[in-house]
Amino acid sequence: MMKTNGQLEPTVFVIFGGAGDLTWRKLGPALFDLSRDQSMPAEFSIIAVDGLGMSDEKLRRRLHDGVKKFSRHGKMQGDEWNEFARHIHYQQGDFKKLQTYTALGEQCAKLEKEWGAKVHRIFYMATPPSMFGEIPKYLGKAGLARDREWSRIVVEKPIGYDLESARALNAVLAANFEECQIFRIDHYLGKETVQNILAFRFANPLFEPLWNRRYVDYVTITAAEEIGVEHRGGYYDHAGALRDMVQNHLMQLLCLVAMEPMVSFNADEIRNKKVDVLHAVRPIHPDAVHQSVVRGQYGPGWIGGREVIGYREEDGVSPDSQTETFVALRLFVDNWRWQGVPFYLRTGKRLTRQASEIAIQFHAVPHQSFPPEASLDWQPSRLVMSIHPDQGIVLRFQAKHPGPKMHLRSVEMKFNYQDAFAVRSPDAYETLLWDVMKNDATLFMRTDQVEAAWRLLMPVLDVWAVAPPGDFPNYAAGTWGPEDAQSLLAQGHSWPLPVELATHGEKKKKNS
Ligand code: BG6
Repeated sequence: MMKTNGQLEPTVFVIFGGAGDLTWRKLGPALFDLSRDQSMPAEFSIIAVDGLGMSDEKLRRRLHDGVKKFSRHGKMQGDEWNEFARHIHYQQGDFKKLQTYTALGEQCAKLEKEWGAKVHRIFYMATPPSMFGEIPKYLGKAGLARDREWSRIVVEKPIGYDLESARALNAVLAANFEECQIFRIDHYLGKETVQNILAFRFANPLFEPLWNRRYVDYVTITAAEEIGVEHRGGYYDHAGALRDMVQNHLMQLLCLVAMEPMVSFNADEIRNKKVDVLHAVRPIHPDAVHQSVVRGQYGPGWIGGREVIGYREEDGVSPDSQTETFVALRLFVDNWRWQGVPFYLRTGKRLTRQASEIAIQFHAVPHQSFPPEASLDWQPSRLVMSIHPDQGIVLRFQAKHPGPKMHLRSVEMKFNYQDAFAVRSPDAYETLLWDVMKNDATLFMRTDQVEAAWRLLMPVLDVWAVAPPGDFPNYAAGTWGPEDAQSLLAQGHSWPLPVELATHGEKKKKNS
């Protein structure tokens, strides 16, 4: 029998949309991996609620398939699956009928009796976004939201489609739950390397004194994907890269890089510091949208020796779609620390290679004392925090090239997570689900943060809505995006080529 973590109290995990893609691909594997790592409570139950007629057995087979494909642990041993699967139950139910919720309440009460203990109720909305505004209302009506210590709701992105709809959704949530019961997921925050930004900045005295306008010339934040829209064309064509990636993931990275040191490791303290950054970002004036933001859409091209179709040919995408699959923007954080330092953000699908990273580019030395021939390929120091798929930190600096003459060359000092810790990082969802169970909201988005991010981007969305791009598709799949992305950069600045950290062996494994 598997050992379990005795410290977590009994928990019922209700997943609305339990037969759907997110549960199959992410939630099932994450819960299984937590259970394998003995990180689930000793008493827990997973209730998958969905409209389809399905038996417990059929649901378990579906989740088993997801675990086999996506679990971090890969192969299951012995009785591991059966041991986990006995906790999974299916409940057919209409999300818009009170009866579904009263049945859930009864089920929880039954488990409390069986386990002889009060249970934590976690309600996870893994449904299409159209249900996000409905489910909380019914949970409220059924009295399942009342207990602030024991009841929590998890909301997936997108949190709204724009500022107005985000506010409306937040209002429904607030009418039924207290803010401390609401866990808004941004899976980037569950990534080890994203959490490591705080550790790196605030657990080491080394770089923080340099982390400001006096030493930093500019910052680039890149989230590049090789994949296209895959099977999500229908959703993506209504969202686009600005809503899908910038409003949430890139804004979170910006906050972590630019925030002031927190006073304590407390959820609200950290979130306050992050929101301060968003409040300090200089608003983009509607007249300046075209100078500050560049959008793109991929056409056909080649990636990794394979020919791929253009965005407009993808399933579920309109053949004359004006949706952006690439965005680059230039922002300024108007405070003492960052005045005048550009933050360049970019994200896109079907780019040359997958790479999420933050590059801090330091100023040139104030006075060049080496002879000109010594520093022919001189480059300023740069620190890169590599988030995904390579994980680690690379510091580029100048060193003397061996030989009788003084000749400077750029060299790199690398920290690779895999090498340093020799353990595989948990999947972001594992970390986040574990935090929900522990009732720790540090890695989740608060109402004000979500709304501040939308507020910043609204001028862009408004201007784009009335000024269609006209030149789409404007980059070939397999490139680094539209040429225009260069126009955002000040003289002497550049979009860095992503660093490579994976060792030769790892790369071979990845490609095989
Ligand atoms: C999701 C977006 O939030 O993040 C996807 O909806 C995107 O379009 C994904 O592919 C990227 O996440 P990751 O963890 O693969 O970098």
